[in-house]
Amino acid sequence: MSLYHSYITIEKLEDHIGKEVTLNGWVSDKTDKGKLCFVKLRDGSGIVQCVAFRPSIGDELFEQATSLTQESSVSITGIVRAESRAPSGVEVDIANIKIWQISKEYPITPKEHGTEFLMQHRHLWLRSTRQHAIMRIRAAVVKAIRDFFDGNGFKLMDSPILTPNACEGTSTLFETKYFDLGKAYLSQSGQLYAEASAMALGRVYTFGPTFRAEKSKTRRHLTEFWMVEPEMAFFDLNDDMDLAEDLVEYIVQYVLKTCQKELAAMGRDVSKLEAIRRPFHRMSYSEAVEWLNNNEVKLNKKQADGSEIQIDFPWGEDFGAPQEEAIMQQFDKPCIIHRYPAEVKAFYMKRDPNQPTVALAMDMLAPEGAGEIIGGSQREDDFDALLSRIEHEQLPREEFEWFLDLRKYGSVPHAGFGLGVERTVKWISGAEHIREVIPFPRMIYRIVP
Ligand code: 4AD
Ligand code: MG
Repeated sequence: MSLYHSYITIEKLEDHIGKEVTLNGWVSDKTDKGKLCFVKLRDGSGIVQCVAFRPSIGDELFEQATSLTQESSVSITGIVRAESRAPSGVEVDIANIKIWQISKEYPITPKEHGTEFLMQHRHLWLRSTRQHAIMRIRAAVVKAIRDFFDGNGFKLMDSPILTPNACEGTSTLFETKYFDLGKAYLSQSGQLYAEASAMALGRVYTFGPTFRAEKSKTRRHLTEFWMVEPEMAFFDLNDDMDLAEDLVEYIVQYVLKTCQKELAAMGRDVSKLEAIRRPFHRMSYSEAVEWLNNNEVKLNKKQADGSEIQIDFPWGEDFGAPQEEAIMQQFDKPCIIHRYPAEVKAFYMKRDPNQPTVALAMDMLAPEGAGEIIGGSQREDDFDALLSRIEHEQLPREEFEWFLDLRKYGSVPHAGFGLGVERTVKWISGAEHIREVIPFPRMIYRIVP
């Protein structure tokens, strides 16, 4: 039996009305009423109701249908019939059933389960309608990202995951032993390698898992997440922001075009996504601080005695989620905040020649409470300036010699950014928590399954 060549999926059934097909899948639900038995079959592409009618299929087959339990695996052969009342537009009249396995008592039932229980059963939870929809949206987001870059003259240049040093600061590094060479770290970002790649291929992107030993237990943090990082030679901060807007608009519009069913399954308000069209909003960090203070958005500050007071937001401090959320209340499109204080940003960012206290950095914040989805910057391309930043941050110079070389041999203005895949999927899908948007989430308190 070759299932490969005779493979018809539920999402394509409307093309087979009036014909006999064989579907392979799992029983998501079953009810029987007298001479009728209704089997809801899911195959990963969709769900369709299959109907067994006792007088036409006979007692033996009918009893097989009624014996099916939730998640039993079956191949069902039958005629496809148009059915306007069905969500899929079709039903299948069962002519034959091949049972692969009658499933044991399936732990996830249609009743409500707690999050902890569902997370422990993540390997099974992925089969449920909502998780299924999120995973298909995730696949569409990843495809949109690849199509966007591949179609715009970028080359994929993957960065290593085992690295000798930090990219985004040393506090969140996962460490491992590396043979006789001492320690290695799991990459926090492929950027430094992407910079080298851009000097070889012009416009590149690196796309892979990145790791942060983050202590944050929020709805937006994972310890392992996927990031796409474009890096472009002969690009400045403005070019970088333009590209980031183009990419995000493309992703959202692609998901809208290809994932209507999935967005409906999520109950997502698609009018909010339809509004995601360029130009987005832009604001400098200094303007954002002024806005916070004009709007009485105070900062909670801990005193020496442990008590908290509320103060005006001081220029120089990094924004946290409360500031970002406050700023985004006024917008229904993403907003890019640019030119942050250099001291709160990474060592590799170029300072603004017009205002050396700020870095040519940018973050894109998404609306509806989604928060930061992109972080990027124009890079320091001057050898001496970069070296002094490395020394100021007390980073080991010898490990950054190769990175400094890029500023010795044909240095050019260049820029790039990183877009977090899970943050983006969470926003677009409307999922409540980031743990739902990656197949097997890794968080401080979870590594199983
Ligand atoms: O702002 P970040 O730290 O920027 C960088 O890593 C740069 N080196 C990127 C570059 O310029 N090439 O991270 C980029 C994005 C964030 O905006 C966010 O979307 C995501 O990565 N991100 C996380 N997503 C999930 N869990 C976490 N712990 C994340 N940390 C960052
Ligand atoms: Mg950031």
